[in-house]
Amino acid sequence: MKGIKIYSPATVANLACGFDVIGLALDFPRDEIYLYKSNHPGIRIHEICGVSLPKDPNKNVAFVALNFLLKKYQKKQKFENEQQIGFEMKLIKNIHPGSGIGSSAASAAGVVFGANILLGYPFNTIQLIRFAMEGERIASGSAHADNVAPAIMGGLTLVRSYKPLDITKLHTPNELWVSIIHPQIEIKTSDARNILKHKILMTDAIRQWGNIGALVAGLYQEDYSLISRSLEDVIVEPIRAILIPAFYELKIRCKEIGALGGGISGSGPSVFMLSKGDETAKKVTEVMNRVYSSLRINYKTYTSPINQKGLKWITIL
Ligand code: HSE
Repeated sequence: MKGIKIYSPATVANLACGFDVIGLALDFPRDEIYLYKSNHPGIRIHEICGVSLPKDPNKNVAFVALNFLLKKYQKKQKFENEQQIGFEMKLIKNIHPGSGIGSSAASAAGVVFGANILLGYPFNTIQLIRFAMEGERIASGSAHADNVAPAIMGGLTLVRSYKPLDITKLHTPNELWVSIIHPQIEIKTSDARNILKHKILMTDAIRQWGNIGALVAGLYQEDYSLISRSLEDVIVEPIRAILIPAFYELKIRCKEIGALGGGISGSGPSVFMLSKGDETAKKVTEVMNRVYSSLRINYKTYTSPINQKGLKWITIL
């Protein structure tokens, strides 16, 4: 096999209370990546469609993540001539960079996942996540895993520990749906991280870990009321909310129509809401549209089930 097409999903990180540790994969939107193995050394990006991304390879997350994998592979194979394997790729970006729904993660996770298949599966899931995290480091200054893990593993994931990297997949209740609004304003993840406090109050920490534990319990018990009560972030959201126009109005209006709850998707500016069932989720998305149609800000909305499989691929060569 020489070439594959990969569908790489958008993801929602944090899920309110789980900053840097919880994330989920969406069915839509998703990027399309064409990846080819070649005998020419190095990595070449032929085309990036849909957005303008850095041409400098060292600033391109897909290049950086794939380069990490390639270096590791060559070391593993103990190649005498390190220049024997290369990759060529084309990225069709449907997930806008800086949207807060895991655009950089989709690129990084997609290429390492695809390369692993083309090379005959030399790496395991945790190794692939680690390579993709290097792409995240370039994109945001921090190698967080809460977008790349659900992109690669699918469903909902929990990072128990970063050192050592220990990630587990969580149960996804059948009827859980996600509504997303992406206001077309730019919030850099690095900026949204820099404004956070490095120390937090014990009272806030107690409330937050109570919520995280209860969210996980709610997922396993398919207890939508417990999930709803647990979607609360007392640490990060109060600081980042000021960056997102009409954030609290969105939350209030979406919950009035039946959303379980939600918050900032990753570092924003997208906002997510969870609902029980697609009908409610569609109504929630409608409410998001109504709130933002009165503001002078362009936006996009999505309604999606949770993507249980994560990355998908087909052979093209
Ligand atoms: N957990 C990260 C953050 C996700 O909130 O900064 C960034 O997409």
